[in-house]
Parts: sequence; structure tokens; C-alpha cells
Amino acid sequence: MEKTWWKEAVVYQIYPRSFMDSNGDGIGDIQGIISKLDYLKELGVDVVWLSPVYQSPNDDNGYDISDYRNIMDEFGTMSDWEEMLEEMHARGIRLVMDLVVNHSSDEHAWFAESRSSKDHPYRDYYIWRPSKEGREPNNWESVFSGSAWQFDEATDEYYLHLFTKKQPDLNWENEKLRREIYDMMTFWLDKGIDGFRMDVINFISKHESLPDAPNPENKPFAPGGEYFMNGPRIHEYLQEMNREVLSKYDVMTVGEMPGVSPDEGILYTDRERNELNMVFQFEHMDLDTQPGKSKWDVKPLDLRDLKRSLARWQVGMHGKGWNSLYWNNHDQPRIVSRWGDDQNYRVESAKMLAACLHMMQGTPYIYQGEEIGMTNVRFEAIQQYKDVETLNMYKERVIENKQDTAAVMNSIYIKGRDNARTPVQWDDRENGGFTDGTPWIEANPNYSRINVKEALDDQDSIFYFYQKLIKLRKEHEIIVYGSFQLILEEDPEIFAYIREYNGEKLLVMANFSGNNPDFRLPDGLLEGNPEILVSNYSDHSGTFSECKMRPWEARVYRFS
Ligand code: NOJ
Repeated sequence: MEKTWWKEAVVYQIYPRSFMDSNGDGIGDIQGIISKLDYLKELGVDVVWLSPVYQSPNDDNGYDISDYRNIMDEFGTMSDWEEMLEEMHARGIRLVMDLVVNHSSDEHAWFAESRSSKDHPYRDYYIWRPSKEGREPNNWESVFSGSAWQFDEATDEYYLHLFTKKQPDLNWENEKLRREIYDMMTFWLDKGIDGFRMDVINFISKHESLPDAPNPENKPFAPGGEYFMNGPRIHEYLQEMNREVLSKYDVMTVGEMPGVSPDEGILYTDRERNELNMVFQFEHMDLDTQPGKSKWDVKPLDLRDLKRSLARWQVGMHGKGWNSLYWNNHDQPRIVSRWGDDQNYRVESAKMLAACLHMMQGTPYIYQGEEIGMTNVRFEAIQQYKDVETLNMYKERVIENKQDTAAVMNSIYIKGRDNARTPVQWDDRENGGFTDGTPWIEANPNYSRINVKEALDDQDSIFYFYQKLIKLRKEHEIIVYGSFQLILEEDPEIFAYIREYNGEKLLVMANFSGNNPDFRLPDGLLEGNPEILVSNYSDHSGTFSECKMRPWEARVYRFS
């Protein structure tokens, strides 16, 4: 397997609005990021993925871009951004920027031109269709509720928006639009950035005829994923982008891709095919959703499903493509609340989850606050929530369809994206030290207990556990390049696997429960006198082949 820096790297994701505010306006900003770079250096990460900092009216917090070449006023100026890049590079940290080109903002100049008349040269930068039998052109549902089409009176046609109506989809069929995007990417690469994280990049090629989606339940709208995910020209576009732009730089590219399989993941990331470096996929994130339902229709996770899914990707991609490893990002609830125990075993379960993930193959991503075990939040009133996805869903279910408010609030507590977007908790001062003003979204009240300062003062904290995992990845090539074998597949509480590389082996055992399950290694798999590489408990009962596990215990043995 070819060795590359981005396979060996650990990425830290910054969601700038919630990271650190330097000027007291309640909104995180670039100077705030600069002030925390030494902290990231201490953690040991190699790359920062920065969620969008471009000009935006913030209908979807920067994922609706109105000017791809300028910095959002609330975040600072281009010279702040340049200073940030320089300061990152001075610390050996690379910068990966977010690239949001499935759609723009409706306030982008292209859209203003496009909507102005049917024969404007920019008309085809977006996807316009006339009404069909007095209705929307098809029955596709927006990811953020309601129809994916918005009627525009100026020209008497509808435009497609897979996300909010302020995020019109760009038309990749149009060669001129593609050229504009490649030029814009080149603009940022020439400023010295180290790569792109590409927002829903596998949505950019739509089936030309935009057919109605199957709708067995006869709902007003239905998700049309099969007609825009991994669409007919997607590989052609990515190969073109690679040829025209990416191949000219030594950069890291990661494609956010809902609805991909490992086989498709290989098509996107096989080095010979010249598309992207790695995928960021969601199969494991959907396992606590009722089959065929939306993310809000939750069910408890069955650990066996999680093991099967992650193992399928580990084995399927090995030697053929490359994957990302993550539990959190700005769209997901906090993992310690989701699949750990944020009440009784917050520290133990956060460390167990970290170890279980970081010992796998792929490039690990740490989302801001994960490294101190930040938790989900429970705001009492819907008015305290800010995320457009949550608010649209609430409106549809509670206001329009009169569903039970408490049940809907409960699904927001479990799945809402604002769980990840409360301010980073830096210390125990008001608002967790995030701002001297009023934060744009309230801090999680547990900041007085859970914060960076407290974590840095405690040698046994989650922070130092992450630091150790990052260090181990640098010291042991097996963690990056080794093969993967799932064991004890049917065990409902223990996630265990073996890695192997050049005669060396690792045994990873992780207890996903607050119980004391018995671990028993199947005969004949491993022998010798292994050392414990890392664990979240300081003393260990039994042996690597037989023991009773502690609540949320993780152990990693190394056989050399
Ligand atoms: C995926 C991003 O991660 C999410 O935050 C955003 O709302 C959608 N894409 C639309 O850009």
C-alpha cells in the first residue's frame, strides 16, 4: 500500500461559529482560532478541516455561500485568514478548507443573474424547470423538509434546492460553471491551503430527466436520492476536477458522501482513478435510525450492526481505497451522549469510543470539543435552537402536522445538529469562556464541569487520552497500514478486532456497555506476551485471552 501523509494524519474539525470568539460579538471568528492554535498543537493534530468561512447570509451557517472568494465579515478579513494559515503552517498544521459546490446561496451573484431571465447566460448555472401539471417539476423532498423545488415568479419556473430554498443547486452539466469552480479552487490552492473537504460532493450529478422518486406511502414528497447520489456523470466530473486542479498540488481531498457503499468508495478513492483521496461516509451514522425513515425517527443502536458496518468498510476498502474515521462532526450529536454514557461513565466511555475508532484503518477526525468529552444539550424551548434543519422539521411535524411536541423535542435532543454546535467550553467562566458577549447559541450549562482548562489540568483526562492515541498512530505503522479482522461478531456488548502488519499484531477490545461482560478470545488466534499499548483503566483483570471487562473498558494489546 502506498504511504502518504494524509493516510498518516489526524484531522481536527473546526466549526468556526462555535469555536472561539475574539471580539465579543458572540460569534466565533478567525482571530479566535488563531488564539487556540497552540492548544491544537499540544493535542498533536496534523490537519485542520475548517467549516466554511466564506461570505454567506448564514441560512445554513456558511453552507450557503454568496461569495466563494471572500471571508465572512463576522469571522474577520482575508488578512486575518492569511495570518491564520501562516500561524498554522508555522506549527506544522495543515489547513483543509470546506468546498461547498453542490449549491450556492441564493444571494450569490450568479443566482441573481440566473433568476433574472430565462435566456440569461447564467440561467444554466442552476437547475430550472417549468411546473408539471400545476405542481413542482417532481416529487423530490428537500433534505431539510418540504419540496426540493421553489417557485420563482420572475420567470415563472421552479429551481431545485436539495437543502434549504436559500441553497439552490448548481448545474454541473454546465461546463462554464465547472470552469468557474475549478478557477475558484485554484485561487485558494494558490494561497497555500492543503486541501478540500467537499460538501455532499456525490450529489453534483443529477439524472438528466429528474424523475419522480418512488413514493409507496403516497406522501407529499419523497427523497429522490437514487436520482442524485452517485449520479451518471459524477466520476467524469471528479476526474475532470482532478485533472484540471487537484493533480497540480500535493493536497488532501475528502468527499462527504451520504449513500455510498464500500465498492463505490473504492471507485472514488482508488489512486489509479485520479478522483479523491478519501470518502467521508455515513453508513454507521444511520444505524440508530428506523429503517427507511428519516434521521429523526430514532431507535437504539444494536452494537452488532455497528460492528458489521465498520468491519465491512475496513475489509472492503483495505488496499483499494481510503476512508475517514469519525464519530462526530457539526451535523451529528455528541458521541459520548449517543453511544456512550454521559451520566455515569462520561470519561471512561469517551475514551473507549476514541480508542475503538482510532485503532482502525482510515484518517481519524476529531470534532471540536470531542477531545474533552463535550455532551449533547437539552434546551427546554424550541426558540433556543438555531439550526435550520431542526427548525424546519419542528415546523413540519409540530406546527403543521400536530405531532406530539414532547416526542419531537426528544428526537431533537437525540439527533439535533445543535448538539454539536454549542460553544466550545474553554473554562468555567460564563459561556464557557467562549465569548465575553452573548453567544449566538447558548452554551451547554455543564461548562462549569466540562471544559478545556479542567481537561488540561488533569493528567488522566480525555484530552490526554486523545493526545496519546494521536502519538501512537505516529509511532506504530500498523495502526495506519495494518489489515483488520473483526472477532466476536455476535457479542452484543464487546467490539473486538485484530490488526496485522509485517508480523506485528494488535488486539483491540472495547466494551460498549456499563456491564462487566466476559471477554474470551477464540482459540488459536493470538499468542505471546503482549504489552498493553493503551487503555482507559490503569489496572487490568485477567489476560488478553480471557477476562472480565470493566464498564466501558478499552484495551489495546500489542504482539510484536
Ligand atoms: C453537509 C454539511 O455538512 C451540512 O452542515 C450542510 O447543511 C449540508 N451539507 C448542506 O450544505
